[in-house]
Amino acid sequence: MNAHTRWLMGLALGIVALLATGCDRGPKSVRGFVLPEGSAQRGEQVFVGMKCTACHRVDGLPSLPAPTVAADRVVVIGGEVARVKSYGQLLTAIIHPSLELSSKMPRELAQKSSVSPMPSVNDQLTVMQLIDLVTFLQPQYRKLEPLYEPYYTMTGM
Ligand code: HEC
Repeated sequence: MNAHTRWLMGLALGIVALLATGCDRGPKSVRGFVLPEGSAQRGEQVFVGMKCTACHRVDGLPSLPAPTVAADRVVVIGGEVARVKSYGQLLTAIIHPSLELSSKMPRELAQKSSVSPMPSVNDQLTVMQLIDLVTFLQPQYRKLEPLYEPYYTMTGM
């Protein structure tokens, strides 16, 4: 390993360490961020009204308008997943989609670009609409295995 490789590895490790610890602390931390209650029913209307259905199917809701993109570009929201999406992750997926591309990004697109094809709705959505959207989407994700977290039984979701 030459000095340059070592330097690069050091840098990479530094970045990983920063990412691992940096999220919970500091002025940019999202700790303590809690959304007020929203309405899943209104969220569904926003989902349809904002044409999210052009690219998305929602698992278990076949009555929503059908996607208009090619079948291999459709991204299914919800269904059985190994890890249920938190509202923080869903909010980020909506208002900052390219930060971390979903594993559901169609493979062909993912090979070409690291930018999400999702159009930005940040200038159109009201805060309440965003909350309603997440309230609608979050319960669509079901965990594959039973959840043992105490919070799960408490909320009875
Ligand atoms: C032009 C197509 C397109 C439109 C329109 C679109 N999306 Fe997406 N969406 C995608 C693609 C592709 C991904 C996967 C890549 C990524 O993570 O951004 C995605 C990912 C997501 C995810 C993460 C899903 C998961 O389980 O990982 C959510 C949530 C989401 N979109 C919500 C929305 C909402 C809400 C709207 C409407 C305001 C919307 N999308 C409009 C294409 C679209």
